[in-house]
Amino acid sequence: MSEDKKNRIVIITGAGIGIGHATAKAFGALGDHVVVTDILEKEGRETAQAIAAAGGSAEFRRYDVRSREAADALVADVEARHGRIDVIVANAGIAHRTPLAELTDEKWDLTFDIDLKGIFRLVRAAAPGMRARRSGSVVALSSIMGVAYGWDEHVHYSAAKSGVVGLVRALAVELARDGVRVNGVAPGYIRTAQLLSEENSLGPVAAEKAAEFIPMGRLGTPEDIADVIAFLASKEARYMTGQVLVVDGGLLVGRY
Ligand SMILES: NC(=O)c1ccc[n+]([C@@H]2O[C@H](COP(=O)([O-])OP(=O)(O)OC[C@H]3O[C@@H](n4cnc5c(N)ncnc54)[C@H](O)[C@@H]3O)[C@@H](O)[C@H]2O)c1
Repeated sequence: MSEDKKNRIVIITGAGIGIGHATAKAFGALGDHVVVTDILEKEGRETAQAIAAAGGSAEFRRYDVRSREAADALVADVEARHGRIDVIVANAGIAHRTPLAELTDEKWDLTFDIDLKGIFRLVRAAAPGMRARRSGSVVALSSIMGVAYGWDEHVHYSAAKSGVVGLVRALAVELARDGVRVNGVAPGYIRTAQLLSEENSLGPVAAEKAAEFIPMGRLGTPEDIADVIAFLASKEARYMTGQVLVVDGGLLVGRY
């Protein structure tokens, strides 16, 4: 079955909360089967239950994007039970505030392992099946901190999210002739646990202040991002590949 049909098989990483959670619900509402994955088991199960309660189809699989073995096993298991994987939303990510003077190799590696290599591992595992079926769509999460802004005390995060842009482009070109599309989304300031973390991001007060500088006058919602991810995975985006769409309420093109 191709990506334009209903009842696609969709794997979403980091889908227990935030943007991943909203994206899982969006695909569930479209009639797709959603494989909700996360290291947060309770939240992941609740996401799958919420989709089912709304009349959709979903399952939860515990999956840590840092493991190659887990990526290979997840893909093998989903393909064995469902016959295919139509869509991957590589959403799992961390943003840990760390001043340069404290940015150890270990902290750098952890962010890269999750935010960049985590995407690569899952796509590498799923690509052979997608290529064989000549159908598939991947959507990866970058950030405005990767495509335009530099983020102080988040050098590792900005670097990893810039890396997502290169990853998307190269995968898109390598997989295009086999019918597999790869795109990305670069969110602006989205109201999630990540953004509202005082320790690692803006925190609630600075987030509200940032909203004043956003031309559309508000922070984004997880659903604002989920709908664009769903578009990129849909047949309406069939001639798009290798692109990273900025979804930020006009922040980057605004003047302040
Ligand atoms: N919120 C924003 O303003 C914003 C802006 C730009 C980009 N993003 C990106 O969007 C994505 C989602 O962000 P969010 O705001 O919903 O974050 P969030 O912190 O609310 O959720 C992140 C999810 O990733 C999961 N995760 C973390 N490490 C994992 C691992 N090793 N394996 C599997 N899952 C793991 C978490 O458990 C959680 O479910 C991230 O990649 C983030 O960097 C967010």
